[in-house]
Amino acid sequence: MTAEGVPALLEARRSIRAFGPEPVARETLDDLVRAACLAPAPHHSRPWRWVVVDTLEAKTALADGMGDRWRADLRGDGVDDARIEALVGASHTKLIDAPALVLGCLTWDGLDRYPDEPRQRAEWGMALLSLGAAVENLMLAAADAGLASCWVAAPIFCPDAARDALALPTEWLPHALVLVGRPDPAYTPRQRPPVEIDELRANR
Ligand SMILES: Cc1cc2nc3c(=O)[nH]c(=O)nc-3n(C[C@H](O)[C@H](O)[C@H](O)COP(=O)(O)O)c2cc1C
Repeated sequence: MTAEGVPALLEARRSIRAFGPEPVARETLDDLVRAACLAPAPHHSRPWRWVVVDTLEAKTALADGMGDRWRADLRGDGVDDARIEALVGASHTKLIDAPALVLGCLTWDGLDRYPDEPRQRAEWGMALLSLGAAVENLMLAAADAGLASCWVAAPIFCPDAARDALALPTEWLPHALVLVGRPDPAYTPRQRPPVEIDELRANR
């Protein structure tokens, strides 16, 4: 990648939410995970684990597990049944229609343990930041390979439900889901607003 190629790639990565039906090769998905694992992480740790989900059975298990939890949360919020089924159904379809899902999980592997809650929370926060960097790597690698991707927040709201749906080890806590596939040429990403640098950056 040339120096001028990096900004162009950053611009090219968009959240694409519609896919062609073609599967994505496991080897290609592994390459995306390899790119994710080049992310910076605290203490030279590798606190992330990745689950490639591309069978209908596994996608359905994950969508059902997270959907059941979301349904219960929405009921608790007092949302009416028809609205709940519309929301949960749309989310289910989004996951099933994506050719592949990559689920980013966090573990405590390599992280420090503290006796007090504030530092413990900061340590976990560092791992979360690192997972975000890793997911960006993954999506940039996907864009570079001509693939579409979209980050889906759902597992961060129900890490245990996502973990149990896929029978993952207890210490793997799902936090980020990325849909991956060939872009649907009919999909147009929402217009990206210009970066108003003076509103977003301070100088001292
Ligand atoms: C932590 C995180 C969670 C997100 N969750 C969702 C989601 O659940 N569904 C979705 O369609 N997009 C989701 N997105 C994508 C954002 O909506 C998208 O990045 C944003 O609108 C900017 O568009 P762009 O990625 O095309 O530049 C998420 C992005 C991040 C960083």
